[in-house]
Amino acid sequence: MTDNPLAEATVDRVAPPAVLVVFGASGDLTSRKLMPAVENLALRRLLPPGFSVVGVARTPMGDDEFRERMRATVEEMGGGGEEAKHVWQAFSGGFRYVAGDYSDPSTFTKLRDVLDEIDAQRGTAQNRLIYLATPPDTFPVVVRGLAACGLNRPAHDNAFVRIVIEKPYGRDARSAEKLDATVHEAFDEHQVYRIDHYLGKETVQNVLALRFANAIFEPIWNRRYVNHVQITVAESLGVGHRGGFYEKAGALRDIVQNHVMQVLALTLMEPPATFDAGGIRDEKVKALRAVDLMNAEEVTQNVVRAQYRSGWVQGSEVGGYRDEEGVDPHSQTETYVAMRLKVDNWRWAGVPIYIRTGKYLPKRVTEVAMEFNKVPHLPFAMSQAEGLEPDALVLRIQPDEGITLRFGAKVPGQAFRVRSVSMDFFYGAAFLEETPEAYERLLLDALLGDPTLFIRSDEVAQAWRICDPVLAAFEDGDLPLARYEAGTWGPPEADALLDRDGRRWRKP
Ligand code: BG6
Repeated sequence: MTDNPLAEATVDRVAPPAVLVVFGASGDLTSRKLMPAVENLALRRLLPPGFSVVGVARTPMGDDEFRERMRATVEEMGGGGEEAKHVWQAFSGGFRYVAGDYSDPSTFTKLRDVLDEIDAQRGTAQNRLIYLATPPDTFPVVVRGLAACGLNRPAHDNAFVRIVIEKPYGRDARSAEKLDATVHEAFDEHQVYRIDHYLGKETVQNVLALRFANAIFEPIWNRRYVNHVQITVAESLGVGHRGGFYEKAGALRDIVQNHVMQVLALTLMEPPATFDAGGIRDEKVKALRAVDLMNAEEVTQNVVRAQYRSGWVQGSEVGGYRDEEGVDPHSQTETYVAMRLKVDNWRWAGVPIYIRTGKYLPKRVTEVAMEFNKVPHLPFAMSQAEGLEPDALVLRIQPDEGITLRFGAKVPGQAFRVRSVSMDFFYGAAFLEETPEAYERLLLDALLGDPTLFIRSDEVAQAWRICDPVLAAFEDGDLPLARYEAGTWGPPEADALLDRDGRRWRKP
């Protein structure tokens, strides 16, 4: 092994020489997600020698201080260690920082000069991956600043300039369209990588593997067998220090429009003709287009919004949302949403899709559960099947990544009784490889120019169209804000939503 771990790239998917330019370099996302991902990619020998990072933000600081800060935050996040020391040594000349206001043109000219220097010193070949890890209202100004300086276009035919844009991408369909127009003035769609970190999760990608690499699931993946689907994104944390951000977002914009819609699209989509970015994204958009757009009245019947009150979560007492830092004491922002969606296509007609997400629920769990129809006729007495629930297939996205199949089995003994049992597949036990973090996978894909796991413009637009009527009902006050005690599975109104259909939410 040489002293430079960046020089030891031995696997196929190694990033090309490039500079990662991070706007919002002093922010939370950069230190909690992006820098640990960079360190891990380097440790896995997936970054080439010379790979460099330029941070841009308002906070004044020098290059060394920036590198030191990033190294320290990565350590706080559990990184660091002996081997990582070599990584940071190799990065020593390749970490630069540009301080400046995003609305000031000189910030971008300074950035251009720094990038030219890095290209000359570290052989980064004028390849740039620009990452907008900034609050969404800064996206247009940064995009325009980049364009005014020519930083939006590759310097020659063999170079690339790509821009990764964080969520939320717009606040509704109209603003997303407007943002798209601004972005497209500077960048072509093929340069734009709209990120949703859920798509970088192995288990989310495994939805595709399960469905399309196996012959046994596809025949039952439809209205003939599936009774209903429940998608849950539950968090055991509250909004923490992000109250200011969350007040403007709410659960619908923060989780449903992106993470839930992505998981939903992968679950419902048709098999793609080709397993490439175009093929997969075309089918995802088609699936989202089949989701019925609710009118105002349907929203009131099919959607529940709620906010947490104080309560107990995992043994600790926690305050209510309105007591959080940066939150209006009379806030009407929802921290929980439950919805019943209708999908109008051949495969899913008549199969309700229930989705829910919330902060301060009893545990952190993301799953897709398909509950199957009951047998047409039970050949034993009801009393023999008291513990029998409908068959179900549960894709556990996180934690305890894996798959559970629930089915009926005979209870051992002289009597003939059946009850439900589970067959479990655990990722961790089946594969010994360490699972890469979502951001690691996505950064590498963006560096390699593979947009499959990023969201295309028409996908974002369609996801907003589904959410827009719901947002309108929230904003017009047509849908009352329910309250739930922190540490419970949401408000009684959410239970009533399923009760009406004779169903219950799962308690994962
Ligand atoms: C982010 C949201 O996109 O996803 C957060 O802004 C949320 O509010 C987070 O906590 C959840 O991500 P994960 O990977 O922990 O499920």
